[in-house]
Amino acid sequence: MPWTPGSDASGVVAATGPGVTGFAEGDAVFGMIRFPDLETGGRAYAEYTTAPAAHLARKPASVDHVHAAAVPMSGLTAYQYLFDHVRLPHGRTVLVNGAAGGVGHFAVQLAKTRGAHVIAVASSRHEAFLRDLGADEYLDYTATPAEDAVRDADLVVDTVGGPGAHRFLKVVKDGGTISPVFHGDYRREEAARRGIEFRGGQVHSDGAQMEALAALLEDGTLRAGIDSVHDLADAAKAHERAERGHIQGKIVLTVAS
Ligand SMILES: NC(=O)c1ccc[n+]([C@@H]2O[C@H](COP(=O)([O-])OP(=O)(O)OC[C@H]3O[C@@H](n4cnc5c(N)ncnc54)[C@H](OP(=O)(O)O)[C@@H]3O)[C@@H](O)[C@H]2O)c1
Repeated sequence: MPWTPGSDASGVVAATGPGVTGFAEGDAVFGMIRFPDLETGGRAYAEYTTAPAAHLARKPASVDHVHAAAVPMSGLTAYQYLFDHVRLPHGRTVLVNGAAGGVGHFAVQLAKTRGAHVIAVASSRHEAFLRDLGADEYLDYTATPAEDAVRDADLVVDTVGGPGAHRFLKVVKDGGTISPVFHGDYRREEAARRGIEFRGGQVHSDGAQMEALAALLEDGTLRAGIDSVHDLADAAKAHERAERGHIQGKIVLTVAS
């Protein structure tokens, strides 16, 4: 202590350090800063912070700071899972569990960029949100568990995990893939017998991938859902909102100008 939380930021460059050529004072930028370096961290709950230039990209002009700040960690996680860890081929069936949350709602949209048939699993209040983002099918897990309704998915992106995560073995086809975004009991020996692979890893800062996300945001292929917006001074209320769960998109803190 003192320690400033926060990894994601969208803002305006106030000054550049020595050797920085890609950005100049006044540029609007966004990114996930120094993650997973938890010791230094992004220090994004602040009016001013510092960032390695390699962790930032230019904010698309058509996207405001609230929507841009919603993207970095969740957008990069979905991007790295689908395109680095899984290398999702075109036209596969992808089930996203926890589809309305930060990672989930970006995973739905990024899978669609590869022509996937996307099955979004979320509680009932998220149906319109997820269909609007392009989900082909929507499943309310409070009424119908995914393992009772879906078979032979090529890929399950599971942002929920937990002790019951092995139920997705019934959902994925032999030789398919499960991407655990959070820890879960997936009964990996049983999965191995069926040739099911596990692909995933810790998200990391990446300015080049932020540029790829910026391009998708600019042309409207990717949209950030905003669950709620809070003043930085009310950060505790934002955390209380997060603790209540059932998040739709992202919670964003704003800094008074
Ligand atoms: N591997 C990595 O590098 C990495 C990176 C980022 C995040 N994570 C982890 O990934 C997890 C998800 O992060 P997030 O930011 O997306 O969280 P989030 O924004 O809180 O979203 C979680 C979503 O899951 C839904 N949900 C809750 N219980 C469910 C259930 N039983 N079945 C289906 N959906 C359920 C919630 O809404 P409803 O219940 O209303 O549908 C909510 O929309 C977190 O545990 C986080 O720590 C890992």
